[in-house]
Amino acid sequence: MPLNNKLIIMNKLKDLFFCAIFLVVFVGCNTKEKTVNIVASPSANISIEFLLKNDGSPNYIVKHKDNIVIDTSKMGFDFKDQLPFLNGFKIIKIETNTVDEDWEMPWGEQRIVNNNYNELVVKLEEESAISRKLNIYFKAYNDGIGFRYEFPKQEKLDSLIIMDENTQFKLKGDHTCWWIPGDWDIYEHLYNTTKFSKIDAIAKRNHPNLGQTYIPENAVNTPVTMRTSEGLHLSFHEANLTDYAGMTLKIDKDNLSMSSELVGSERYGYKVKRQLPFKTPWRTIQISETAKDLISSNLIVNLNEPNKIGDVSWFKPMKYAGIWWEMHLGVSTWDMGATQDMSSFNEKKKVGNSTHGATTKNAKKYIDFASKNNIKGLLVEGWNTGWEHWIGFEDREGVFDFVTPYQDYNLKEVVRYGREKGVELIMHHETSAAVRTYDKQLDTAYALMKSLGIHSVKTGYVGKIIPKGEFHHGQWMVNHYRKVIETAAKYNVAINAHEPIKATGIRRTYPNAIAREGLRGQEFNAWASDGGNPPEHLSIVAFTRMLAGPIDFTPGVFEMSLKDKPNNKINTTLAHQLALYVVVYSPIQMACDLPENYEGNNALQFIRDVGVDWEQTKVLDGEIGDFVTIARQEKHTGNWFIGSITDEEKREITINFDFLDSSKEYEAIIYKDGVDAHWNNNPTSYNIKKMVITKDMEKSFLLNEGGGLAISLKIKK
Ligand code: NOJ
Ligand code: CA
Repeated sequence: MPLNNKLIIMNKLKDLFFCAIFLVVFVGCNTKEKTVNIVASPSANISIEFLLKNDGSPNYIVKHKDNIVIDTSKMGFDFKDQLPFLNGFKIIKIETNTVDEDWEMPWGEQRIVNNNYNELVVKLEEESAISRKLNIYFKAYNDGIGFRYEFPKQEKLDSLIIMDENTQFKLKGDHTCWWIPGDWDIYEHLYNTTKFSKIDAIAKRNHPNLGQTYIPENAVNTPVTMRTSEGLHLSFHEANLTDYAGMTLKIDKDNLSMSSELVGSERYGYKVKRQLPFKTPWRTIQISETAKDLISSNLIVNLNEPNKIGDVSWFKPMKYAGIWWEMHLGVSTWDMGATQDMSSFNEKKKVGNSTHGATTKNAKKYIDFASKNNIKGLLVEGWNTGWEHWIGFEDREGVFDFVTPYQDYNLKEVVRYGREKGVELIMHHETSAAVRTYDKQLDTAYALMKSLGIHSVKTGYVGKIIPKGEFHHGQWMVNHYRKVIETAAKYNVAINAHEPIKATGIRRTYPNAIAREGLRGQEFNAWASDGGNPPEHLSIVAFTRMLAGPIDFTPGVFEMSLKDKPNNKINTTLAHQLALYVVVYSPIQMACDLPENYEGNNALQFIRDVGVDWEQTKVLDGEIGDFVTIARQEKHTGNWFIGSITDEEKREITINFDFLDSSKEYEAIIYKDGVDAHWNNNPTSYNIKKMVITKDMEKSFLLNEGGGLAISLKIKK
């Protein structure tokens, strides 16, 4: 009987023979034995085999049903002043464990998350006299696998400098991949769709619109998502990136293999420096038969530790407006000196009479708009001194001040006015990547926020990191981003980071890590010289970047032609912009357009109504890069919202409303593309229809080219 069938049967007998899902077998191999340890997911569909080869080298295999997904792949490390971890190990202990528990998200795509896995822990020791120790943890879930290394406390080793982590991921075919380059400094690249053997990250160097970019080799960033020719979906990422370097995956086209390539520090010439004991982040593979199930996976958050900061009810999920889009459109400026047009972060030119965006008067205008439209937050960028010298300069240290407003901005008065109108300010801290300058001011900056009752801040790290030689995704910055979250938590402040480190599920441990950018956001549509985000952008993002965690994409543009930017426009329909409030998950969602562009537009009703915090999420359908349809039920009200987007192709989608409550009727408002809507030549054409919807109904809708569909379903009283 094949091992796998045996596993399935054994798993069915799980209640009787609790330990049966963990197998330890000895496979005869020449004169010496090869040790194989297996752990299967609770459903038995996914399994991981750990192999210690004859030479004592640790390897693993991942299977889905009977098929190999990851073929025998090596695990190991190169160190400074130490022999590598490569081979010569013996197993000193095997431990197994099963967990099946529910935990509650304070805010999220769903309230209750099930965490159910089987675990195998392999404790290794070198056979040679140095007898160094290494433990490897494997967890098999129904939606994928994770494994991590532990460097336990040991006599002959108290600290390590990692020059390279050598975790291999050997694929079984030339899969279709959705990838961005393994840039050490930014994730803001468009996704590419190619066969694995055609991945060419080097071709993505020197993008003219990136303030900082460094692609040292042919590697991809994570999450990277793939589809096999048999239709299995895989997404590679990492979970709980703590005091370690971010991982890119180096591509070996000839052998259809990837290996971990950590982001380094050129200042120190290494990848990671740690005291023992420590554990690496989890290396993760989400595995599902359908594309849509990738989005439903909770693997990444489940591989993180429970909430460490306690009650975060001081942060309320919300929609927000902002003095923001007008700067990206070049209508106003961040700096009060009004000398810069930041139409592209690389370009700086005099624009004579342009105006400062962050004035008391302008902020009050936005507060009035927000308060009328059920929008609870207001972001104000360019409120503090320093913007005259934020990009295009080497000497950015000591420039930004995070407590001193410009003269034409009365911070206290804006806070007071907002409070009167039910709108809370969102603070803004652009660091221009002068990290030490920000670090020094963290406490004073958050103390100011606390004194004003401001509970969230958008941070930014545009530019090359100062000090030189550090990169946005290296260990030094990973530790900075974490310090920001930990310090902010002490002041009841939540962080929405731009130019962040990737999301790896730490929002579970630190639920004040509410959202982040870390992708090509809406802002590129205002100034990218490559024509902006193509219509397919978000239907790739939903299956790649979004698997990592909440995204501050900033949807909601209604004036699609961008009349102030003759060479730029939005490459979606307006209904697509509405759908993004549901498709793209974040506990903070911007209504990014200028108030005057919303005025009098009936589609604004959807933005007023749409929820931001969810009891449950149902991914109804989708194919990567083509379309995606998601339904989310709002916490407390029980109302549902549906968003569906398509790429440049027109398509019909069918929604079965069987997820609704059978005892209720729902008043639906349907926002759909107009018959003649088209992302390129008629993006603002839409229509609105009202009807009553019940659980037994099924309906088809046409999404036009680059189009979308948004539906609100309110329980009928
Ligand atoms: C980059 C951010 O992504 C953008 O949203 C912000 O406006 C600028 N930095 C200025 O901080
Ligand atoms: Ca950005």
